[in-house]
Amino acid sequence: MRPWPLLAALLLGAAVQAAQDSPATTVEAVPEDGRQAVAMPALQRALLREEMIQHTATVQQLVDLLGKGELTRAAEIAERDLGLSSMGKHAAATRGMGPGRFFPQLMRSVGIGMHEAASHFADVAREGDAEAALKALSPVLGACVSCHSAYRLE
Ligand code: HEC
Repeated sequence: MRPWPLLAALLLGAAVQAAQDSPATTVEAVPEDGRQAVAMPALQRALLREEMIQHTATVQQLVDLLGKGELTRAAEIAERDLGLSSMGKHAAATRGMGPGRFFPQLMRSVGIGMHEAASHFADVAREGDAEAALKALSPVLGACVSCHSAYRLE
């Protein structure tokens, strides 16, 4: 098999697409970003992003487990990956200067609030009432929403 003609066609297609998308042909204004920019070193930025992607996966897992009625498992995962027990896991890699150390004070309290809400969710889920657990998941997501609407990385 000779993949080259196919590859060449794909590359040409990509180049045409890029030309069509280039700023010279785009007239839309970029919307203003009113969030506060938070500066931190590259390592901490990378760790934060990695953690955020993991948070999204965790939330999906929690919703999935709630739907299946596996509340004990949901409690374990919430406490381990989002709860107060999950704090400080970057201490070794960053000599005690994890991403949270670079947060402005209010952002930090939203972050701690998320960990507290996740630990509370775990406590509620352990009791075995799925409806109560779902209710307790909302403030966890509320913290994701609050922080994202107020802060971004520089
Ligand atoms: C204390 C603040 C804070 C909390 C709480 C928070 N995040 Fe984030 N998150 C951020 C910041 C800051 C960024 C970087 C935004 C940017 O690109 O500038 C981010 C980025 C992300 C991203 C994009 C990652 C990427 O690929 O760049 C995802 C996904 C995400 N967060 C998910 C979540 C979820 C889910 C939760 C809640 C369970 C959550 N976050 C809670 C601050 C927070």
